[in-house]
Amino acid sequence: MAKLEGVRACVFDAYGTLFDVHAPMRKLAAEIGPRADEISKLWRQKQLEYTWLRSLMGVHADFWHVTGDALDYALDAHGVEEPGLRDEIMALYLKLDAYPDAEPMLKAVKAKSQRTAILSNGSPSMLDAAVRSAGLERLFDFVLSVEDVGIYKPSRRVYRLAMQKLQIQDAPSVCFVSANTWDAQAAAQFGFQVARVDRFGLRDDNIPGRPDRLIKDLSELAALI
Ligand code: 2OP
Repeated sequence: MAKLEGVRACVFDAYGTLFDVHAPMRKLAAEIGPRADEISKLWRQKQLEYTWLRSLMGVHADFWHVTGDALDYALDAHGVEEPGLRDEIMALYLKLDAYPDAEPMLKAVKAKSQRTAILSNGSPSMLDAAVRSAGLERLFDFVLSVEDVGIYKPSRRVYRLAMQKLQIQDAPSVCFVSANTWDAQAAAQFGFQVARVDRFGLRDDNIPGRPDRLIKDLSELAALI
């Protein structure tokens, strides 16, 4: 695959790209029951929808709040009412499993003297907890949260935040990496060079912006920069 030219920093989406958002429900599948997978997918879908809706409504609440609201919706929709289960699931969201390809990729990117950052919807405390519990804290120069701008992805203000913090003036110097189609596409439309991680076999959405490269997992990234 052809290299991306002129990359000066790699910026990563967190949830779904570095961290497995479906791990909590998988771990509690015995308590949740046979629909754990379906409930987890609905939870994720509602979580994202609520970020978009709140951004359009101009009523921001942080990602912890939104994640809890979405979980309540998904559990209610499936009639899951076990006492204590909601809190157990939320606690696991603070120590999500990192995908196994995340750490070796970050080491390989660092070995190429590239700066690294997370740019995520997550609140600072959520991101801090996830990064620490996965033991990745030394592998990032910056962990950036949308809380600095008070609006969610895919607002251009979020992608601009990464440029400001990295002190990069030209967007194509950033290699942005996301497994979320809409995030990868919005970042490409913003002007970043984008590698989309095709973890889930998803088609691009019919919105502006196309990723520059499609990689099957993070192990393919370092060779691109
Ligand atoms: C993130 O910002 C979109 O969940 C994704 O980490």
